[in-house]
Amino acid sequence: MREIIGDIPPQKAHTSEELMERRVLGAGTNDAERCAEVLAAAFADDPLMAQIWPGSAERKRSLPLYFRTSLRSHHLAGGGVDIAVGRDGDATSVAVWDPPNHWRQPAVSTLRAAPHLLQALGTRVLAALKIRRALDHHHPKPAHWYLVNIGTRPALGGLGFAGALLDTRLAVCDETQMPAYLVCTREENISLYEKYGFRVTEAFTLPASGPTMWSMWRDPETP
Ligand SMILES: CC(C)(COP(=O)(O)OP(=O)(O)OC[C@H]1O[C@@H](n2cnc3c(N)ncnc32)[C@H](O)[C@@H]1OP(=O)(O)O)[C@@H](O)C(=O)NCCC(=O)NCCS
Repeated sequence: MREIIGDIPPQKAHTSEELMERRVLGAGTNDAERCAEVLAAAFADDPLMAQIWPGSAERKRSLPLYFRTSLRSHHLAGGGVDIAVGRDGDATSVAVWDPPNHWRQPAVSTLRAAPHLLQALGTRVLAALKIRRALDHHHPKPAHWYLVNIGTRPALGGLGFAGALLDTRLAVCDETQMPAYLVCTREENISLYEKYGFRVTEAFTLPASGPTMWSMWRDPETP
């Protein structure tokens, strides 16, 4: 892992001095496992994931392999996977970003990942493909950083770890004057993203009477 911003400035600490020691690190190719573990825990009850795997036991079993595979086969290579760690150095929160014009996974690497993806998706392959198609259909065309997933270990929520990750990557967006995009999977998270400058541009439902998703866009702040 490489450090990308060092210690979080004191004014960003939410509760105690210990939190000042949060750091944001750029994930390397060896970090798939630890990132997948955090994301699987965070997304265990996510509405989009529940649409892919309706049974919670199957979902919990499948998510680590699913995240590991997508990180290894696509996202890590883009250099936009960020990890927030606390004093103990454990990964607490993970943000998966695809850089501008890299959100669509090339067919070759999708094919290479297919055996693991099929293992993770099991009988839900078709449902997952339909959801993928719906997400792609609503994906905006102008260049942008794409926040694919952000998740914090449930026991360590509300301590500013996800906020530190958002601040870090959105600062890059502002420096390079690049917009950012995400799909919000829970209505209660909309206000979180609004705090960081995102605005809802569209609401749509997932196939098979699925849950509502919100497309959110952020124009870079002008210096
Ligand atoms: C959403 C999530 C990533 C937030 O992580 P976190 O580490 O608890 O967030 P933070 O403590 O850094 O909070 C960041 C800011 O958002 C606010 N916030 C956190 N969760 C929020 C929520 N659900 N709704 C509104 N605001 C929220 C915090 O108050 C904080 O604001 P502040 O900086 O003004 O104090 C975490 O709850 C999570 O992993 N959820 C499950 C997975 C998920 O839903 N991912 C997003 C899919 S759209």
